[in-house]
Amino acid sequence: MFKYILGIESSCDETSAAVVEDGKKLLSNIVASQISTHSKYGGVVPEVASRMHVESIIPVIEEALDKAKLDFNDIDGIAVTQGPGLIGSLLVGLASAKTLAFSLDKPLLGVNHLEAHISAVHLENEVDFPFIALIASGGHTNLYMVNGFTDFELISKTRDDAAGEAFDKAAKVLGLGYPGGVMIDKLSKSGDRDTYKFPIPFNTKKSYDFSFSGIKTSLVYFLKKNEIKDDNDLNDICAGYQESIVRSLLNKTFNAANEHNIKRVVICGGVACNSRIRELGAEYGKENNIELFYPSPSLCTDNAAMIATLGCYKFREGDLSKLNIGAYSTLKTKIVRGQKSFTDSTQQS
Ligand code: KG4
Ligand code: ZN
Repeated sequence: MFKYILGIESSCDETSAAVVEDGKKLLSNIVASQISTHSKYGGVVPEVASRMHVESIIPVIEEALDKAKLDFNDIDGIAVTQGPGLIGSLLVGLASAKTLAFSLDKPLLGVNHLEAHISAVHLENEVDFPFIALIASGGHTNLYMVNGFTDFELISKTRDDAAGEAFDKAAKVLGLGYPGGVMIDKLSKSGDRDTYKFPIPFNTKKSYDFSFSGIKTSLVYFLKKNEIKDDNDLNDICAGYQESIVRSLLNKTFNAANEHNIKRVVICGGVACNSRIRELGAEYGKENNIELFYPSPSLCTDNAAMIATLGCYKFREGDLSKLNIGAYSTLKTKIVRGQKSFTDSTQQS
């Protein structure tokens, strides 16, 4: 029956544990963020991240159970992020989940972090299948056809940088700190998005693939030729840059939905917190007569609630992992739909 699932997430710079009931009711979702530590370095330092996960994982799991008013014995299964992510960070969550599963004699399941980002939507919305899902995060930008709670077909992904990476790298060259998306979003609100136009990345209907390395380069060249005059000028640059990323994401996503004749779109991952993607997405939705769903911001950035949610649906279908599963750093799934097939670069650890 798998009623109460404990989720554990440690793929990057957030240590998180959550308890979800029946794959849709959130009982607790504790997130210990390391952002203030990594922001000093302008990005995540993997070795520091692993050590911080070791320090916080047990208190975070205990707090998740306390908040859910449950005991370890009440848990019906333990779902944990297996990959993709930073290997050292993933191993902390995985080792903790395995230890709990073994000592409590509970079922264990390793889940794909990207598919889990999509599952977060089920905690707040009833979305009919099939739907198109865009996951835009710091490390990935993928489009999926989602046919059921555990049925994800990868349509396309980025050929180089992820959308979140384009925000983070731009923020770094503009001296705005990490994570960049949050700052660029904030400054853009006071900026004019038409003062500076950046090219909309890979804006072709011929491919669903994304590409965000060029836009970062165009910003670097722009800054070589132009001085940032004042704060207003900086806001305008941010607004123009953000607009191009957001339009690229929405154009590809809505093209895919229209061409596959799908009337529902889910946008998730950290970049889905962006206020402009939410605003412009609503316009695209109206124009295309497509229903649009986003998880709440706290369920868009990394969290264990999404891991527990996907875990629940997979457990109920009979999925189980052995205690010797390894972490993987890169995406395991191959493109199922679409024009290109990517090589499988799975790394087991
Ligand atoms: O999904 P996530 O929390 O972690 C990964 O799995 O990578 O995504 C983090 C990314 C970062 O690149 C961050 O800059 C971006 O999400 N992000 C945003 C916003 N909030 C977070 N990007 C644009 N606008 C935001 N408001
Ligand atoms: Zn993520």
